[in-house]
Amino acid sequence: MSFINEDKIIAGDDIFVPFLSEEKIQQRIKELGDQISKDYEGKVPVFIGVLNGSFIFLADLVKNIYVDCEIDFFKLSSYGDEKISSGKVTLLKELNCDINGRDIIIVEDIVDSGLSLKYIVELLSRYTPSSMKIVSLLVKPGSLKYNVKIDYIGFEIPGKFVIGYGLDYAQKFRNLRSIYVLKD
Ligand code: IMP
Ligand code: MG
Repeated sequence: MSFINEDKIIAGDDIFVPFLSEEKIQQRIKELGDQISKDYEGKVPVFIGVLNGSFIFLADLVKNIYVDCEIDFFKLSSYGDEKISSGKVTLLKELNCDINGRDIIIVEDIVDSGLSLKYIVELLSRYTPSSMKIVSLLVKPGSLKYNVKIDYIGFEIPGKFVIGYGLDYAQKFRNLRSIYVLKD
């Protein structure tokens, strides 16, 4: 089976259908990259990816950044293998670089309730970066439960479960080039 342009993805009893095409995602990431590059002219931002979900988005985003930048990663866990958040977040991998005095940009794949992001912002409040902004490829505005400010948003989407382009279902389907949504 090829994972490119499948018209549906079957995962156990669930069926996922195409939602955001590879072209649409790449076009939007180019726009985000242009905007961020303009906003950080003369600076050297550190992009901080939240693993695992953001790894593909971060890779494509930085390919569209034309100021010097650095990259680091966090690893959090909150979902286990469930489709619904457990409400718990644990830190599995800390940052490696010193972000004190740096301009940091947190890179998320998706913001659902906002719990993960709230946890990250609290964690980073131990440090003194000179600025902190957040970019998320996807945001589910209808699901937000915590007050978090997201500076750059790729797409606002309905509160439905999505997979592909880094986003998993029980750790699978991250390798899809486009994003699929759970069929009702
Ligand atoms: P939050 O803490 O509820 O905002 O959830 C954030 C994290 O949950 C994201 O970084 C994803 O890893 C995961 N997540 C939330 N919604 C989805 C989804 O629709 N598909 C796959 N993962 C999701
Ligand atoms: Mg994530």
